[in-house]
Amino acid sequence: MKPDELREAYLSFFESKGHTRYPSDSLVPENDPTLLFTGAGMNQFKEMFLGIGNLPFSRATTSQKCFRTGDLDNVGRTYYHQTFFEMLGNFSFGDYFKKEAITWQWEFLTEVLKIPQERLTVSVYKDDDEAFDIWHKDVGVPKDRIWRLGAKDNYWPANAPENGPNGPCGPCSEVFYDFGSPGEEGDPEAGRYSEIGNLVFTQYNRVGKNELEPLAQKNIDTGMGFARILAVLNGVRSNFETELFLPIIRAIAKIADVEYTYEHEFGQQVRRIAEHTRAAVFLIAAGVKPSNEGRGYVVRRILRRAIRDGIALGIERPFLHELVDAVLDVMGVAYPEIETAAGAARAFLKAEDETFRATYHTGIALLEKELARLEASGEKTLDGKTAFVLYDSHGFPLELSEEICRERGISVDRAAFDKHMAEQRERSRERSAMKGEVFVATAITAFKRDVAPTEFVGYGQTDAESEAVVLLRADEQADRLDEGEEGRLVIKATPFYAESGGQVGDAGTIETKNGVFRVTDTKKSEGYFLHSGVMERGTISRGEKVALHVDGARRAAITRNHSVTHLLHAALRAILGTHVAQAGSMVGPDRMRFDFTHTQPVKRDELRALAEWVNAEILKNSDVETAEMPIAEAKAAGAMALFGEKYSDVVRVVTIGEHSMELCGGIHVGGSAEVGAGLITQETSVAAGVRRIEMVTGGGAVTLANAREGALLELAASLKTNVDSLAPRVTSLQQEIRELKKADQQRRRESGGEVAEQLLKSAVSVPGDSGDVKLLVAAVDGDDVPTLQALADEVRKRAGECALMLAGRGESGTALVASATDGAIRAGLRAGDMLKDLAGRLGGKGGGRPQTAQGRAPVGVDLDEALDGLRNTLQNTISGGGSSR
Ligand code: SER
Repeated sequence: MKPDELREAYLSFFESKGHTRYPSDSLVPENDPTLLFTGAGMNQFKEMFLGIGNLPFSRATTSQKCFRTGDLDNVGRTYYHQTFFEMLGNFSFGDYFKKEAITWQWEFLTEVLKIPQERLTVSVYKDDDEAFDIWHKDVGVPKDRIWRLGAKDNYWPANAPENGPNGPCGPCSEVFYDFGSPGEEGDPEAGRYSEIGNLVFTQYNRVGKNELEPLAQKNIDTGMGFARILAVLNGVRSNFETELFLPIIRAIAKIADVEYTYEHEFGQQVRRIAEHTRAAVFLIAAGVKPSNEGRGYVVRRILRRAIRDGIALGIERPFLHELVDAVLDVMGVAYPEIETAAGAARAFLKAEDETFRATYHTGIALLEKELARLEASGEKTLDGKTAFVLYDSHGFPLELSEEICRERGISVDRAAFDKHMAEQRERSRERSAMKGEVFVATAITAFKRDVAPTEFVGYGQTDAESEAVVLLRADEQADRLDEGEEGRLVIKATPFYAESGGQVGDAGTIETKNGVFRVTDTKKSEGYFLHSGVMERGTISRGEKVALHVDGARRAAITRNHSVTHLLHAALRAILGTHVAQAGSMVGPDRMRFDFTHTQPVKRDELRALAEWVNAEILKNSDVETAEMPIAEAKAAGAMALFGEKYSDVVRVVTIGEHSMELCGGIHVGGSAEVGAGLITQETSVAAGVRRIEMVTGGGAVTLANAREGALLELAASLKTNVDSLAPRVTSLQQEIRELKKADQQRRRESGGEVAEQLLKSAVSVPGDSGDVKLLVAAVDGDDVPTLQALADEVRKRAGECALMLAGRGESGTALVASATDGAIRAGLRAGDMLKDLAGRLGGKGGGRPQTAQGRAPVGVDLDEALDGLRNTLQNTISGGGSSR
């Protein structure tokens, strides 16, 4: 059976049982900030389970994209484990319960898919006699093929009563396919039994440890691992032997030049690369960019595992991006969003591969150095901190460090590593602010059943009249807001644009019959526009008629910046190439920034070409047209879709002139000339493979141009030239400075002898083991280290046994040079120690050997005081008998 046929068979079977076919939610749950990723089909239905959702049906069926990291270490090693997978599910929201769930599951498996009954084994929660009886009496499964298991296996989430999370949960019943032969012993983990279905009887709401409240309604949540069932139908043991993976595996084998079989010695690595690359493409398509935080860190981690596996396979160049085509072949038809994301995915994969290879090699170098040290000192354990640094900064999994160490007879301090890991986890949990709860109610939950989503009326206008339907004080609903109170308002219909697609929310005022609410920002959630601000004067009551006024000048500035974003996007693709994909944007009233995939800095002449292209489009005064159309039609017409955006079936297409056509819900100028002008203000890097360009338009461009012109005129005047001649003038000044500096250093070196004589006069004598030692601690002018070193050499030549600590003052800092003869060292005066001491007092750094040392310190600390301090310490050392004789 082909993947598409299986998906269709499942969904249409449950449609025939009265279920509504519902789309997969995004991998990044849209309305649930507490979850990192969608991990199960039920996530998007949590409110329906709790009886507070507002979907107009009580039975649903889906094929849901899921991502879980719980089994990361098993990926590639076992037949079944994946991070990204699809799950087929049917759901009942207070409608049917155990009996239908069980009998339909059986009917689907044995009658639609025609899986032989004797191959199926089931499990129920240990106390669930009801489920046991349905399986045995109604379905006819023999008693010895119904296992009774505990809460670890037969509760969902696993062990929920004891370990959480809070939210909907219940006992479950699992269905296994038995690959073994009769009589063969087997355990599910070892691969004889493949778990193909899980029926959860969602009847409790967990509110605390072992505290389960019965839900008002009983629900069903089933999940069937898509790849597993496909494997069963195709008579193969492993998910990795299905069409969901084979083409990717073949592409990897070709690049690595290996004859892949499941048993190949590098089979694990090949499967892991295939799985992780496929998962990463889906995560990127959901808008997740590799980074060091939250979701981005998860993508980075799996990509690094794949790159390392590539290195183990002997692939010596970045290669992951070359697998994107194979991923598209396998999954692109069912999930068009990965086609949209392909360009971005290639760019991110390549950048990650390049960057990680560099840190990987420095990691190996670090480990080698540490191993050499351990070997020299005869120690046998690599400390946990080093193993952790290798893991955290260089992407080395502990096993890899252990493996390399083991070859050299060295073990790794695992306990210490684990301790660092635990601390890191704590930190990243704090950073990502994800609680991982299955369910958290928002302010919106409380009113969404009674209030219709907001109607947006602001495309063509900035003023409207409507009605205040919900008032929120903090997160609580209120009947009235009084003067001075902060809050958020939901209005029935609003011209205020709510932040989305990079465009910031509108600001303005909402007038009541006796007052004014000042809106500082507008955001939307689940279709409701939330106008936040403060009751500036008078009051507002729920249900009151209101007049809404968007700040028009601010809105106009925002629209200019939004339209220029589209023009820049088109210009980038025209000038840098079609690999450029939008990777984020922010459109505000004062400026816009646009992030895009591109692996090198944009060159100066390219920036100029971009600005010229954009401004030429502005000057044409092209019409800006918006149209609504089905998404397929929009794409066929060539409209740019952005990866990570979730589009509905009907989309809004914004066209500017001949070259720019994008799916966009934002607000734009009427004709391109309204933008006025677009100036590029910055080009920077935001992440591996992602660049950022910032621009200003309209009045902002004029202000900036004037300010720059003013600065240039001032600069020209102070350099006694005109603006056009500034560049050569500055170049020649720089040349002059270089020459003067050189001459100055030369002069100092030449006069070194004289200065040295002079300095020696301030040296003090301290007793040494064969006569006196001269101690000199002094400041001189000039922070050039080589010159200072030359001066120290001059002093040394003249002084005999001596210890010198010289500090060279300069405008940008202080150079530090120390030097000590053998006699001085025996008297306890070591160059390295003196230098460290002084650097410490000055907030600088440096060090060296007992004979000689160098360093630098920033300006700011009183140098003379620091030198006095050092002198005192040295006096004490000597009189305290600190000599190392
Ligand atoms: N939520 C259950 C699972 O993920 C069944 O869909 O296994």
